[in-house]
Amino acid sequence: MILRKKLIAGNWKMNKTTADAAALIQELAGLIGKQTEVDVVVCPPFTAIESVARALEGSTLKLGAQNMHFESSGAFTGEVSAPMLRAFFATHVILGHSERRTFFGENDELINKKVLTALRNQLRPILCVGETLAEREAGATLKVVQAQTERCLEGVSKELAPSVVIAYEPVWAIGTGKVATTEQAQEVHAFIRGLLTKIFGEPAAQKVRILYGGSMKPANAPDLLAQKDIDGGLIGGASLEARSFVDLVNAASAAK
Ligand code: 13P
Repeated sequence: MILRKKLIAGNWKMNKTTADAAALIQELAGLIGKQTEVDVVVCPPFTAIESVARALEGSTLKLGAQNMHFESSGAFTGEVSAPMLRAFFATHVILGHSERRTFFGENDELINKKVLTALRNQLRPILCVGETLAEREAGATLKVVQAQTERCLEGVSKELAPSVVIAYEPVWAIGTGKVATTEQAQEVHAFIRGLLTKIFGEPAAQKVRILYGGSMKPANAPDLLAQKDIDGGLIGGASLEARSFVDLVNAASAAK
């Protein structure tokens, strides 16, 4: 059996000025910047990437971005490319977040291009998938998750598959305080693992980390993280404050 190292990623979304980000990252680096039990990634807004990157030097914390364009450079006003992120030693990039899908019209085809670009640039994609409340109530959860996962991973080789991180984020649980039950989450995580096994084969699929995201907090994390196929969390609200984020990292460490 392969033991997957747990991963806790903080998605700061559109929060924190450069000064606020610097203060938070200094606190985090002091509290968890040397631990190696859990992979920890922070994903600040682009404006704070540089200051966070500097503050992370010499710590075990890793830097991620919340989005990127699929081209390396060119006339794409307002966009940021993979080489630009790599220049700050970013290691991860969140792709296909439901907020990008809902508010910025991103579809699976576009997200797939970004996934392939990230992998070509040695960035690990944190690919987000998940159903809306209407889709869950219509009994379409697994169908939706399957279509998103398959389409967004098209063309990924089985050699590179273990570099991909999947985040299952039920849209109805994001920022709502409504967390999926451990059974609901584990069911979808196991289903995703099964899909990955069909696409990439068992050895590669066993290495992929599948994170849960959606109102994950220190209080509900231990149960979620104890599930067989839940390998960590993609954290929104609770990543904006050092104490709760550190508690989540500690919960992952205890669950390993
Ligand atoms: P919350 O933890 O605030 O629900 O956000 C989850 C999320 O969208 C992380 O990407």
